[in-house]
Amino acid sequence: MKKTQASQKQSSSKQASPKKSSRKAAAATAAAAPDEQSITSVLHESRLFPPPEQFSSVARVKSLREYKKLRKRAEEDPEGFWSDVANELHWHKPWRKLLQWKAPFAKWFVGGKTNMSYNCLDRHVEGWRKTKAAIIWEGEPGEQRTLTYGQLHHEVQKFANVLLSLGVRSGDTVGIYMGMVPESAIAMLACTRIGAAHNVVFGGFSAEALRDRMNDSNAKLIVTQDAAWRRGTEVKLKDAVDRAMPECPMVKHVVVLRRTGTPVAMHPGRDHWWDQMMESVSGRCAAVPLDSEHPLYFLYTSGSTGKPKGIFHTLGGSMVWNHYTTRMVFDVRDDDIYWCTADIGWVTGHSYVIYGPLLNGITTLMYEGAPNWPEPDRFWDIIERHRVSIFYTAPTAIRAFMRWGEGHPRKHDLGSLRLLGTVGEPINPEAWIWYQQTIGGGNCPIVDTWWQTETGGIMIAPLPGATPTKPGSATLPLPGIMADVVRKDGTSCKPDEGGFLVVKHPWPAMLRTIFGDDERYRKTYWSNYKGWYFTGDGARRDRDGYFWIMGRVDDVVNVAGHRLGTAEIESSLVSHHDVAESAVVARPDELKGNALVAFVTLKSDKTPSDQLKETLRNHVGKEIGHIAKPDEIRFTDALPKTRSGKIMRRLLREIASTGTISGDVTTLEDFSALERLRDGEEE
Ligand code: WTA
Repeated sequence: MKKTQASQKQSSSKQASPKKSSRKAAAATAAAAPDEQSITSVLHESRLFPPPEQFSSVARVKSLREYKKLRKRAEEDPEGFWSDVANELHWHKPWRKLLQWKAPFAKWFVGGKTNMSYNCLDRHVEGWRKTKAAIIWEGEPGEQRTLTYGQLHHEVQKFANVLLSLGVRSGDTVGIYMGMVPESAIAMLACTRIGAAHNVVFGGFSAEALRDRMNDSNAKLIVTQDAAWRRGTEVKLKDAVDRAMPECPMVKHVVVLRRTGTPVAMHPGRDHWWDQMMESVSGRCAAVPLDSEHPLYFLYTSGSTGKPKGIFHTLGGSMVWNHYTTRMVFDVRDDDIYWCTADIGWVTGHSYVIYGPLLNGITTLMYEGAPNWPEPDRFWDIIERHRVSIFYTAPTAIRAFMRWGEGHPRKHDLGSLRLLGTVGEPINPEAWIWYQQTIGGGNCPIVDTWWQTETGGIMIAPLPGATPTKPGSATLPLPGIMADVVRKDGTSCKPDEGGFLVVKHPWPAMLRTIFGDDERYRKTYWSNYKGWYFTGDGARRDRDGYFWIMGRVDDVVNVAGHRLGTAEIESSLVSHHDVAESAVVARPDELKGNALVAFVTLKSDKTPSDQLKETLRNHVGKEIGHIAKPDEIRFTDALPKTRSGKIMRRLLREIASTGTISGDVTTLEDFSALERLRDGEEE
């Protein structure tokens, strides 16, 4: 019998009712006009959800008091604190010095030797976890595979030998251009086993993007597959590699996994089939003890301007931070089936699909395809069938689920879930509540996790058994993270005053540099505030010290002298029941200096009309205040997004201001969405 979880679970929240929003029309206009120093915050959300008791009672950290104790210890006794955390893992040689900090360059666990693959695999295989599922995989067409820790260990050793046989050595770079198949995890782990840095390029990127990333990181070998399944069609990865190769002189070999069986051209001497290579190598390859500061991976992020940045992470710090944050934020336990929906092409896929879960010896689920294939209930179907207990996804996905309607999750028993997470963007309170109620049945803590490719792992997030949550807030920094919101001059903002999010002390997983460009590294992250890391995000802290991320400061709009974070206005629009998603940008206006343009996607059963435009403008006026009322509303059936789901406001700004696009669109997910917007076509 199928039960919907909403009826199984009781809301355990004592202080909050999801219906009762006490969102206040905020004091944007009443507040003292901010100078250029800070950002005006207009959205106030005061619902508070304490951790469910049955969750807290068995959690690692059970109360805010315990969290504060940990935080104090991390600040007062970093040596002791970090030694305890790092010593949960295996070190082939202990470190001499915890941190060497010559701003802006940090080294952690100096002199220590360790190995990521050893810690993810060998450590578990020596004990009972040898027969435990490490990876449960589901292909888009429906195939299923489970790899135990023992099997994964075996495959990784073999593939490490394949890499060695093709001339890859410690310190080399290996490109990985694959979809979500277990072999992409095997390839990553094999690299770490022999000390090669991996550079994973998202399988949806073009041949040109692949070429640039391979050349910039000096990759010697590429691991790919014939094609990947996505929404029932094949994404031809090997073809793209072939197109990139003529301009990748450093790449000597390509290893090709057969996934879909589509015919591909194989270049003799250069291209090798995965299965054939695996047949001829031994199943033993010892993990090499590597220096703590040995390269672990490169991952390229597109900045709003300029060429992509090769974010460079090293071994010891990333490993410790992935291990620690997965343990703390997801409070993982041995019987969890953990599912993070990110693609391995993003940092979330690195830290929280592969490394964090495997370091902790838990079972991580990988799904190959789209959330709406063959039907929009695919995710809920997967959760029900695999009894997923921890689910971690992005706000953009949650808003898509809302748009598709709650009939889809309602068809499934989601009662196995005990914890939900989000990452990637500010989650608007409406989506948070929907997630909590419709997916979590009112009974799962939600961990809204703030972090970046650059930070290597989660920085600000609730500890689910300890931190009362507020919809839309990433809550408090993890113990060991000294985050603050500051003005332009570096002084700390007052409660609820918007400013710039900084981290005032290095942390183990911070990027070490932008590969090949120390100057850009210095300029991008360390030039605004001496000795502090500038995140590029706007934020405020409320009276409880909770952090509210207001979006990238590049996206801040200036209206009538107020600098407003777009995320807050968007959140207000999405709180209207007809709206699925929105993006707000400013365009120059002769009269006002700036006019606000809101691009709005409606829920699938709603129809656009002029009357609705007016209603939405008034809705924002009522929710936030006159100041934030969009001057123009444009309905659209899709917003231009990066492939990781972030709205590309830069493009919308161009469309709103000039009606055309001249900038770089290589990271865009769905070009047709943009074309339609540019042509002024509305739904
Ligand atoms: C945004 C993803 C609000 C933020 C791990 C950050 C968030 C950028 C959150 C990094 C969150 C990420 N709340 N905003 N919980 N998580 N962001 O490098 O602007 O793809 O700077 O890393 O995403 O994106 P990236």
